[in-house]
Amino acid sequence: IKTSKKLPEDFLWGGATADFQFEGGFDEGGRGILSHDYETDGSQEHPRHHTLQMPDGTIITPQSNFKDAEDVPEEAVPVFVKGQYYPSHKAVDFYHHYKEDIKLMAEMGFNVYRFSICWTRIYPTGEEDQPNKAGLDFYNNVINELKKYNMEPLITICHDELPMNLVLKYGGWSSKKVVDAYVKYAKTLFENFGDRCKYWLTFNEINAIRGFGQLGVRKADGKERYQADHNMFLASAKVVKIGHKMMPGSKFTAMYAMSELYPATCKPEDMFHHLQEHRENWYFIDIMARGYYPSYAPVIWQHHGFDKVDMEPEDAEILREGQLDFVSFSYYRSNITKDGDPWFNIGGEANPYLKKTQWGWSVDPLGLRYCMNEIYDRIQKPIFIVENGLGAVDQADENDYVEDDYRIEFLQEHLSAMADAINIDHVPCLGYTMWGPIDLVSLGTGEMKKRYGFVYVDMDDKGHGTLKRTPKKSYNWMKHIIKTNGAAL
Ligand code: BG6
Repeated sequence: IKTSKKLPEDFLWGGATADFQFEGGFDEGGRGILSHDYETDGSQEHPRHHTLQMPDGTIITPQSNFKDAEDVPEEAVPVFVKGQYYPSHKAVDFYHHYKEDIKLMAEMGFNVYRFSICWTRIYPTGEEDQPNKAGLDFYNNVINELKKYNMEPLITICHDELPMNLVLKYGGWSSKKVVDAYVKYAKTLFENFGDRCKYWLTFNEINAIRGFGQLGVRKADGKERYQADHNMFLASAKVVKIGHKMMPGSKFTAMYAMSELYPATCKPEDMFHHLQEHRENWYFIDIMARGYYPSYAPVIWQHHGFDKVDMEPEDAEILREGQLDFVSFSYYRSNITKDGDPWFNIGGEANPYLKKTQWGWSVDPLGLRYCMNEIYDRIQKPIFIVENGLGAVDQADENDYVEDDYRIEFLQEHLSAMADAINIDHVPCLGYTMWGPIDLVSLGTGEMKKRYGFVYVDMDDKGHGTLKRTPKKSYNWMKHIIKTNGAAL
């Protein structure tokens, strides 16, 4: 069926960033050390890693990412190693460029900007009694600048990060102390920014984070991880309840890595395996958006080698009272899975029917429409696409101008699929924030070469460059799409 791609009048168009990939200023304004600050740069061939030191002075460099995360010896402590480049320290320096960057976004027609607050700018160790004034001032300035252009802030309270102190002292989310620290931190945000901010996101890609410095637990799997996840569910639910009370009309979500997972074939064993593996994602959405543990939870726990997550009697009520108002997710690709594959929530092989990006991610616009329908059918709450985009190598000319027709094509196809889900399938979708509207550091590989933006930033993988911002060809294309509210797609 062909229908108009024009979207509802109140649709939110914008972009999304994370503090440690975008902001920089890591030793300014009293900011404390974050778990990400010890992560080096890398590439597709050479994974980024954390730099840690053993008691005898030996430096060890365990990989930091996802399922490849190695168990980290208890005695290892993080250190900065001379000569290593740590991208979070400078990122692309939004800290000093925020006025210019917000102006560029506003001129494209954005009416929403999703950004994460750096926890250690507000509480440098996570444990202070009083928040850091310079940190509050910085985000107050950012929010006021957004409001000047009528842009709605969508605030990620925690984007895969922890104050390093909380990782070292308490083992991260394994400890209830960290739940308390998070609740205190979130309350401070509501007190200071709640008068101007309606949309809040408690955790980024909560189903995907694992490993040292992200969950803050040192083992990447098993009971320790699911117990830490339980603490995050409680932290999110507590904050949702408090937020609703402190800011009437506020809307809360958490964010899921929902790149679509298909069965490799229609063989019943592959289909059933797909159902089970897919539940590794639903687990998170079901608990947080429906407010209770689903009946299949024990199957997942047993698969990971333990019988049950330990819970206090009051936990069920906390989860019920702190349900999310809407479901947000990132969508980059689709993967396939077959009988015998490991259960992993964002894993799988690339879909053989699809072309791939330079980083091997399958390009699947229809998968976005599929995913939107699937989530809404299941949860029956509005959705919000808070990350999508194409990471590609851009060739800038002598004026730093990039003709990124491949990015336009990617976005055209994905936004059309999104419009079809809204206009044909009637999925209520609040908005779309493209990942990295201004080039930023890649999370997965720590490089600048993998660029997502509408705006080129003159900086290389090691942080060299003028940091000058230059709109790409896609900038004006997107501006037109937003101006017509999707009709020009
Ligand atoms: C999501 C994260 O996983 O994907 C972002 O929330 C990340 O922080 C994005 O940047 C894209 O991944 P990458 O590895 O290309 O930066």
